Amino acid sequence: MTANILVIGSGGREHSLAWALAGSPGVEAVWVAPGNGGMVSPATEGSAPIAVAPVAADDGAGILRLCRDKAVTLVVIGPEAPLAAGLADDLRGHGLTVFGPGADGARLEASKIWAKQLMNQAGVPTAPGWVVTSRRAGLALLQHLDRPPVVKADGLAAGKGVTVAGTMAEAEAAVERVFAGAFGRAGEQLVLEERLEGPEVSVLALCDGRDLVLLPPAQDHKRIGEGDTGANTGGMGAYAPVPFLDQKDLEHMRSTIFLPVLAALRERGIDYRGVMYGGMMLTATGPTVIEFNCRFGDPECQCVLPLLEGNLAAVLQACALGRLAEAPPLSTHGSRASACVVAAAAGYPGPVRRGDLITDTGSPGSGGMVFYAGVGSTATGQLRTDGGRVLASVGLGDNFDQAFEQAYNRLGQIHYAGKTVRSDIGHQVRRR
Ligand code: AMP
Ligand code: GLY
Repeated sequence: MTANILVIGSGGREHSLAWALAGSPGVEAVWVAPGNGGMVSPATEGSAPIAVAPVAADDGAGILRLCRDKAVTLVVIGPEAPLAAGLADDLRGHGLTVFGPGADGARLEASKIWAKQLMNQAGVPTAPGWVVTSRRAGLALLQHLDRPPVVKADGLAAGKGVTVAGTMAEAEAAVERVFAGAFGRAGEQLVLEERLEGPEVSVLALCDGRDLVLLPPAQDHKRIGEGDTGANTGGMGAYAPVPFLDQKDLEHMRSTIFLPVLAALRERGIDYRGVMYGGMMLTATGPTVIEFNCRFGDPECQCVLPLLEGNLAAVLQACALGRLAEAPPLSTHGSRASACVVAAAAGYPGPVRRGDLITDTGSPGSGGMVFYAGVGSTATGQLRTDGGRVLASVGLGDNFDQAFEQAYNRLGQIHYAGKTVRSDIGHQVRRR
């Protein structure tokens, strides 16, 4: 396979995708649009060069031009917003090969109501929920519930549309907030859902419309504070694989959750070619879906991709072509563990300080990988902070202690004012 690949997006997820694709046999060049200055790297032995192009993810015409200019053979779309807006459909309409579902399939993430109905029709275990279309109906329904439910704005709300209410008063406030327009059109309807208990895992499937392959499961840490406390974030770190899930558990999820959803999509005429990300709660009665996303998780992607052995580019291309069975299989490093720790900017997940100079005192070969996210570069090519999550450091090891040691050591070599890091990522699996 000779390939020029275009990755759409600008975060740490897209940096890790670009890195893994650049290292895939047969790939000649990887472009990222719009990308960030931290991703750029020259060709090295065993890796194609990574370059960025200043084209926004919502500039369909610009992306099409870029594909033609660079003779792009595969487009991989990172974030949910362009998927939900139909970028994959547009590009496919112009004959391009695209990894990422069309706007129809992206509804799995873009409408919680639609996703819930699909899961119910497919007989897939998910938290019982009620669709609510007005403030009054929402408040009235709360009167009939014994326990505070989870309140979810229907549409895309940049990860902020969900309230896991501790009290009925909190649930009421969340309903009021949604119907007061806090999430714009995303909050014209909502779902009230029963609160589930259990560990939460992220399971990612690469789909070709009919068939799929599961990646090693991961756990991420959503809260900003030590001990998993404080405000929700996009994710402060992750680890993979999840030691309490074995091959049998994954096979069970594949046959009772992922394949039935893919089949239900097909029944609706939806040819789903991209990532199906299941956010699962492992409850006393078995794995239960709390949400689907139509893309790789961030930071799960940064954590999981380094565990894979094989040709990721060939697999994503095969998915995009509807021919997964023809791709060389991906495998995972024997017993290897992957640890990912995010460094954020001061203030995250609220308004953050920006523009702080980033310095790296590490030397090549000091171990660990760094994937940049919220960074910009100056005229002289120096990196500065420019976003909430600035970067993720990933370590690999034969066990989680080694993997986290490497990730934290590498992170310790990177400096900027206001660097904000949780010291307890992976506390579930570390012994020290
Ligand atoms: P997100 O949709 O990523 O903003 O995050 C929603 C988070 O809310 C999930 O990661 C869970 O931790 C939590 N959550 C969502 N639905 C439920 C549920 N039914 N029961 C318990 N926790 C939930
Ligand atoms: N890490 C959670 C997400 O990507 O939605």
